[in-house]
Amino acid sequence: MRKGEISKAVIRRLPRYYRYLGELLQNGVVRISSKELSERMKVTASQIRQDLNNFGGFGQQGYGYNVEYLHEEIGKILGLDVTHNMIIIGAGNLGQALANYNFEKVGFHLIGIFDINPRFEGVSVRGIAIQMLDTLEDFLSEHKVDVVTLTVPKRPAVDLAHHLVDLGIKAIWNFAPTDLNLSEDVCVKNVHLNESLMTLSYEYRAKHSGEARDE
Ligand code: NAI
Repeated sequence: MRKGEISKAVIRRLPRYYRYLGELLQNGVVRISSKELSERMKVTASQIRQDLNNFGGFGQQGYGYNVEYLHEEIGKILGLDVTHNMIIIGAGNLGQALANYNFEKVGFHLIGIFDINPRFEGVSVRGIAIQMLDTLEDFLSEHKVDVVTLTVPKRPAVDLAHHLVDLGIKAIWNFAPTDLNLSEDVCVKNVHLNESLMTLSYEYRAKHSGEARDE
């Protein structure tokens, strides 16, 4: 890690701080101490102080944190103070489920949905028409697209990802069941919901393996 760089572990925790602070803000809470925040978030107060010290602290000894300010600053660190234009490629079950979710709340503006299956021609999701993939290049030349969400099967995902990089895409939110390894300047988040279920399974077994189950 380079000097001044923030560890990935801290970055991974920031969205959770952002979410809790957003809830506090909605509930009209103006200030919160690291102790109170730690009780709500079930992490230690010293972890919170350490994490936030990476960004200059934000807190005032004895006064706690200003919730609105901290929420806004963490939002800025996460890059949520600007809107990102996003498209989805793969308009099947998962693609449409994601398209139906309002990611605008965290600054991701869905501007296009693409697929190769002609049965989607004329179909819209949340008012956005599903377009055929062969129109993608024209679309990208006419619109600024910051993030591509990939919800296609594994086989097309890899070629598609390389093609997107050739077309200048710099961020991919990948749900295809494969880890995409692209050039270093391309940001990729591989999301595998199964992995979360597997760790749930592990914890469930570790805690309850001895218990009898009613059939
Ligand atoms: P689906 O079969 O309903 O949708 C896939 C869509 O991709 C279809 O509409 C198909 O026409 C389209 N497609 C195929 N090749 C394409 C290409 N080259 N360009 C554009 N569109 C193309 O499948 P579903 O359920 O939506 O899942 C999509 C993928 O996501 C699957 O690979 C599945 O395994 C994966 N998945 C991943 C999860 C995760 O947590 N990462 C969770 C659920 C599914």
